[in-house]
Amino acid sequence: MKILVTGGLGFIGSHTVVALLEKDYEVIIIDNLSNTSIDVLEGITRITGKTPEFHQIDIRNKSALSRFFDEQPDIEGIIHFAAFKAVGESVEKPLDYYENNVAALVYLLKESCKLNQPKFIFSSSCTVYGQAEKLPITEDAPVQKANSPYGNTKQIDEEIIQDFINSGANLQAISLRYFNPIGAHPTALIGELPIGVPQNLVPFVAQTAARKREVLSVFGDDYPTEDGTCIRDYIHVMDLAEVHVIALEKLIEKDYSKPYDVFNVGTGKGNSVLDVVKTFEKVNNLKVPHKIVDRRPGDVTAAYADTTKVESVLGWKAQRTMADALKDAWRWEQKQQ
Ligand code: UD1
Repeated sequence: MKILVTGGLGFIGSHTVVALLEKDYEVIIIDNLSNTSIDVLEGITRITGKTPEFHQIDIRNKSALSRFFDEQPDIEGIIHFAAFKAVGESVEKPLDYYENNVAALVYLLKESCKLNQPKFIFSSSCTVYGQAEKLPITEDAPVQKANSPYGNTKQIDEEIIQDFINSGANLQAISLRYFNPIGAHPTALIGELPIGVPQNLVPFVAQTAARKREVLSVFGDDYPTEDGTCIRDYIHVMDLAEVHVIALEKLIEKDYSKPYDVFNVGTGKGNSVLDVVKTFEKVNNLKVPHKIVDRRPGDVTAAYADTTKVESVLGWKAQRTMADALKDAWRWEQKQQ
């Protein structure tokens, strides 16, 4: 089966491409290389022994996208990662976020009409829940008003996909609401490539351990949690990659007729910022200088997934521990010197 992966050279995209190739899918990648490097393709090849077809296309470019789909009528599934993902930047450049994350999704869905009953997997985020009232968070927890344009794009995108399907589109889709993806492929041949100062916790921790950053700022220790720091559900990127393949396979099953569904993708376990720092130090046998600073605006106190639905419907459960992910993140960071 031929599967299109948009943003397939990005962090989660590249790991998902590996998972697809390992299951013998034929993969075509579209990526504009705006937040990654072409070298990732080489990493994918070295891991899998296969080189997926690659097209440098920006999905905002309607005519290029249209030409691409005209030439690829036999695509059977689309996994859509291509999007911007920095919360702070989205506040400064909202229109860029709406153009890339929303308008381009519309173009992609329109192009999907050229295909025969395509299956569509969408990268969503637990950010849609905001600070949920109940923990762990189930899929029926209410979607709350987004506190950034980035978060809003994920909510709008989910609605666009649903509306499109409700209109009778010949498409079946699943949105995966990721919790916090971390780590890298255990070979350290692919991983996360933050440009500039990392905004996310684990890349910052790894760069601090590597002495590229002086000290990690822990954003607040006065939250109502055991150690006062925020709690998140950190999931190994390879576990996350594998659930995309499983979700796709569910949509392909002959007797699966649900047109649209959403699943939380996390481990179900919450860990604090200080748990991450301490575990990183312990498993990698090093020190991460850190200091407590003020809270970061917009951060929620705690978010971790109820994984009952993804386990029962998709039969998927995270296999790797946070310690595994933090070892892999460090192995990857050491190769970036
Ligand atoms: C954020 C977004 C999420 C998005 C994800 C990917 C929010 C509420 N969530 O997740 O929607 O999908 O980024 O980009 O904005 N921390 C520090 N020091 C640092 C960095 C982070 O203490 O230098 C803390 C944060 O306060 C937070 C935790 O580490 O408690 C995780 O932060 P981060 O990795 O940025 O992920 P989220 O904010 O959970």
